[in-house]
Parts: sequence; C-alpha cells; structure tokens
Amino acid sequence: MRCIGVLCSGGDGPGFNPCVRAVVRTGLGLGMRIYGIQRGYAGLIACEMQEMTARSVGGIIGRGGTILGTARSPEFATPLGRREALRNLNKQSIEGLVVIGGDGSMRGAIELHKLGFPVVGLPGSIDNDIVGTDMAIGVDTALNTVIEAVDKIKDTASSHQRAFLIEVMGRASGYLALMSGIAGGAELVLIPEVETPLEKVAAELQDAYMRGKAHCIIIVAEGAKPGTQAVTEYLQAHQEELGFSVRVTVLGHVQRGGSPTAFDRLLATRLGVDAVQALHAGKSGVMIGLMGNKLTETPLEEVVAKPKGIDLEFYRIAGVLAK
Ligand code: F6P
Repeated sequence: MRCIGVLCSGGDGPGFNPCVRAVVRTGLGLGMRIYGIQRGYAGLIACEMQEMTARSVGGIIGRGGTILGTARSPEFATPLGRREALRNLNKQSIEGLVVIGGDGSMRGAIELHKLGFPVVGLPGSIDNDIVGTDMAIGVDTALNTVIEAVDKIKDTASSHQRAFLIEVMGRASGYLALMSGIAGGAELVLIPEVETPLEKVAAELQDAYMRGKAHCIIIVAEGAKPGTQAVTEYLQAHQEELGFSVRVTVLGHVQRGGSPTAFDRLLATRLGVDAVQALHAGKSGVMIGLMGNKLTETPLEEVVAKPKGIDLEFYRIAGVLAK
C-alpha cells in the first residue's frame, strides 16, 4: 500500500490529534503518502483533503479537538454520497483509510469495506460506548474534566449545605456519569441504563441530609430517565422537606475539549500506529481496540451489532460507597 488517508468523524474527543499524528508518522515511516481528509465523510464527499508531512502534525500531541475537523455526514448514508467518496479516494490514488470515531463512524467504515475499499477503524468517543475496546480515545480526559468540576462544585456545595445535579454527556451511555460518580464520590448517579423514580431520588437526598452530609452530589447522564429537568423540578418542589436546597450545573461541551491526558495520548498513539500497520499488512473491515491492555482487532460488523452496555456491578458499588 503506497498511499492512505485518515479522517475523524462524529463527535470529537481529546486524543484525536495524537492519533492523527501517529497515523501520519507511522505511514511516512513505512514509505507511504498520507492524506488528511477534512470534516470526516463530508470532506471525503467534497474532496477536501491534503497531503500530510511529518511537519503538518508537529506540535499537536497535546492539543484537544482535531486539526482535520470532524462532522456527522447524513450524505454518506446514501449510495450516491458513498460513490462520490470512493471516486475521490480513487482520484487521489488513496488505497486505504483510517477512520477515527464512534459507532456511527464505524458504520460508515463498513460501507467502504463492503465496496472493497480497505478501511481500519479506531474508537474515538467520550461516551465509551463502542464495542471492541475497554477505553475509547477521549474518555480518560473527559472523565478528568468531569472530576475537576465535581471537586470544585463540592467545595461550594458543602459550604452552603446544598444538593447539586451535575449533568454530564452520554446520550445513551451512562459510563461517564457512573465512573465520575465513583471517582468524584457522588451521593447518587442517574444513568440511561437504570431508571430511577423521582421519589427514590428525593428519598436518597433526604437520607443523605439525615445522615449529616454537608452536600449531596447527583451526577446525571444527559440520557438518564428521568432527566435533569424533571429531577430538578421535582426536588425543588419538595425542597422544604428534603433539607438541601438544589442547584444545577450542566457541564456540556467542556467535556469534549482540552489537552489530552497522558493515558489518552498513549492510547491514541498505540491505536494509530497499529491501524497503519494493519492496513499495510492487508487488513480491512476491523476496528483496533484496547482490551485488557492488549491491542485487539474486532470485525466492524461486530462493533456495531449491539450496544456495549455498562457493568452494573459498578452501579452497585457506587451506591455502597455513597453512604
Ligand atoms: O457522542 C459524543 C457526544 O459528546 C454525546 O455525549 C453527546 O450527546 C453528543 O456527542 C453531542 O453531540 P453534538 O456535539 O453534535 O451536540
């Protein structure tokens, strides 16, 4: 293989840049030409790509976001969009592609693989909801961002004897909420995987007050049911009986930015190196992941076949430790 492309797709995460860097420099080391494709599959369809050199990825190992840009591309879901993308890859003599992104991006990669185009996927999403890897690129940094916020909110919550709802990202996955709940010492975690009645949330809050806690931190995944708004309204309506007054902080996209942690830089680098080596060895239709600290290959079809889910043992532990 003499020429490959690399693109980032879907929601970005800290660590995408070190991954691009690793892909580019590993490819160059193997004597390949490398094209950086802008704005994911959308850029592929629009033929927005440029040849990368070792210098074009200089100084990005510690930068959040992605220098290539990223996008969600509904156009690529159509046969016409995919045909245009393939035409552009052929036009530039690109013979293989590394796709960095979440499960939607892996679905796009499958389509290219089915058309006979060599493609290797790499898991990147702060949600950590991708089958075939213990950790996706960006998760560790996002977790650390959440923890920093939780620690700070706790300071003021304790001073005022308040309860705080802290909403974290995760449309369909409670991973960030659960892990930050444990690492941040939260009193309660609300996740999409476990429905918690409003009365139970209120009872936990009241119980924490009666046990003499100075604060009550509730981490809410954005996809939890009931969600932030319903819980806030309910708790505020019952504030008098519950003891704590209630405040809300929605962390939002701050979780997607920032300089990647050492863990994310190393993970992204290992995955990037391995993806290029896999393409070079003639592999396609797989995602490289990290399982038990070993790099593994999972067929893309398996990656998107079912939701990853979370280990509910952690949910139980979070409850025990909250006392
Ligand atoms: O999938 C990653 C993620 O950050 C989710 O946690 C969140 O729901 C979504 O992306 C937000 O997407 P956007 O940046 O398009 O608003």
